[in-house]
Amino acid sequence: MKVLPPEVEEILAKFRLNREQLQEISEKVEQQMKMGLAKTQGSSIAMLPSYVPALPDGTETGKYVAIDLSGKNLRIMLLTMNGAGTTPTHETVNYIVANHVMKGTGDQLFTFIVNCLQRFLQEFGLVDANLPIGFVFSYPCELLSIRSARLLWWTKGFDIKDCLQRDIVALLEEALEMNMSTKVSIKAVMNDTVGQLAAAAHKYGPECTIGVVIGYGCNSSYLEKTSRITKFDAKARGYDHDNMIVVTEWEEFGKHGELDDILTQFDREVDAASVHKGKQLIDKLCGALYIGEVVRRVLSQLVLDRVLFEGQSCEKLDEDESFPTKYISEILGEEEGVFKACRRICEELEVEMHGTGDYIIIREVCDVISRRGASIVAAAISALLRHLELSSVKIGVGGALIQFHPTYHQMLKEKLEELTPITMKFELVPADEGSCQGAALIAAVAERLKL
Ligand code: GLC
Repeated sequence: MKVLPPEVEEILAKFRLNREQLQEISEKVEQQMKMGLAKTQGSSIAMLPSYVPALPDGTETGKYVAIDLSGKNLRIMLLTMNGAGTTPTHETVNYIVANHVMKGTGDQLFTFIVNCLQRFLQEFGLVDANLPIGFVFSYPCELLSIRSARLLWWTKGFDIKDCLQRDIVALLEEALEMNMSTKVSIKAVMNDTVGQLAAAAHKYGPECTIGVVIGYGCNSSYLEKTSRITKFDAKARGYDHDNMIVVTEWEEFGKHGELDDILTQFDREVDAASVHKGKQLIDKLCGALYIGEVVRRVLSQLVLDRVLFEGQSCEKLDEDESFPTKYISEILGEEEGVFKACRRICEELEVEMHGTGDYIIIREVCDVISRRGASIVAAAISALLRHLELSSVKIGVGGALIQFHPTYHQMLKEKLEELTPITMKFELVPADEGSCQGAALIAAVAERLKL
């Protein structure tokens, strides 16, 4: 057991959640999920219908394109599937969405997407191929069909007002028409968690019915019986399938004060400085867009308390986003007792004098804040497991924290084991590039089922 200065312990104690606290969160999440399935309003967890009735079964073949807008990244992928028993191959290009576009107009955003698509198709000689497209739009949407999604609200730092309540497939199609000479068709639109689930189900088989993304934000989707989505009038909506994937949008949990007891002063500051104050608290406690900021604010307080860097000031630490979440991954990626990355990061933060005592504190702060996030995600997943009452399930996990944070997967697994009844068997299965691949797979499912 490391002995940390009492000032550090005092702050970190606020981030350490005990089993009772996590069970309580988990129970409240389950209640809100049930309410979200029954009512369109009132629950902090929206439980949105996706209009996707089935997962890929491995027999899919052909070439598909996926467009995936998740936070600052726009990924475009060409996926080639050769049918049962084979692994799909893919080519992917990443484009970065500029800050001014994230807060600009719909026209700017969709023209940017179409320009990137045009470049991508040219690069791969596919301009005239007229390939089917799966579109991942990882923001909360009300779906009206598998090809129509009304944006409910923005998350993850986006704030483009003229897109709110608009059908984002129609906006994309308009931009395609205005800017592209060739024809492409959007076969399906979905949240990134649906893509993640589809990719994992394709890779790990039909036992995989839950998808969780822990990226910039954190959210999940799962295969539900249509009859249990009691707020959804399947007949009136012309939906005649027994199952449907539901997107929980659990990142909004907490907006009715459910997390007030565990929020620290640092979380409240991160929230207050965010684009959407008071909203998406799960993203803010668990997502890669925010946890670096929480660490930064704690470290900055420890400098003020004169326990870090012997009280020498560190102006950089007072600047927003000067401690990106990738620093956390780099620091925790080193063996205990090795502090190369930590030393380099202190240099990047322009601290004049730093030493082992500081590195131990920084490492512990990164660990405790990551662990709190993973514990909350585990509480939410275990709520879903209880709701589903399955005896055995595979959970497809993906997103930046799963892919790049060295201890996240293990922490999540341990907490989930602690919080889940022993009779429920689960396995966490990772699928990298999941949401993008899954979008192409769902486009194939939509074609197969003639949706
Ligand atoms: C945010 C979005 C949600 C998305 C998640 C993961 O929470 O609101 O729709 O699935 O981030 O990217």
